[in-house]
Amino acid sequence: MSDTPAHPDIEQVLITADAVQARVNELGATITASYSGRAPILIGVLKGAVVFMTDLARAIDLPVELDFMAVSSYGNSTESSGIVRITKDLDATIEGRDVLLVEDIVDSGMTLRYLRQYLERRDPSSLRICTLLDKQVARKADVSVEYTGFQIPDRFVVGYGLDYAERYRNLPYIGILKKSVYGG
Ligand code: IMP
Ligand code: MG
Repeated sequence: MSDTPAHPDIEQVLITADAVQARVNELGATITASYSGRAPILIGVLKGAVVFMTDLARAIDLPVELDFMAVSSYGNSTESSGIVRITKDLDATIEGRDVLLVEDIVDSGMTLRYLRQYLERRDPSSLRICTLLDKQVARKADVSVEYTGFQIPDRFVVGYGLDYAERYRNLPYIGILKKSVYGG
């Protein structure tokens, strides 16, 4: 499947669908081992983390629960505004629970720093972060991430949940979006 032609708006496939799936399975195995005997709650950040989280959950051999939060930070732009607003809060109570926050990508770190502080205030018994992608940029906000899928260059990417103006989330690979698409 990895030799399927890329979408015409994609400049380059950065991580093939096969490579994504293989790494997600590795992360699932690592998480299964480190939470052995426990029942973590996975909290996905809508909407970007949904595709990753549903694959990750199926790669974890533990009695996991799933919950979601939604935040808005970017609008339709490709650069972080630094403003984080919660538009959907958790359904579950996380006090005393092992929480694994699942994100699509860490860029400036502003979103995750905010969410980590927000969730810490609810007294989980543990809180760790798992991100599929980590952009190699100068972080504006210092945030510790326990599980990372891939380090990627500082380019705007889409696919496997990541969007530009709500599009491309269903591409099975991670690709660099052509600058002409967003007028860059
Ligand atoms: P941060 O707060 O700057 O770390 O940004 C994190 C959020 O920005 C991610 O959860 C994504 O929704 C979005 N984002 C950052 N970089 C990209 C990208 O290259 N493609 C798509 N979305 C991105
Ligand atoms: Mg996101």
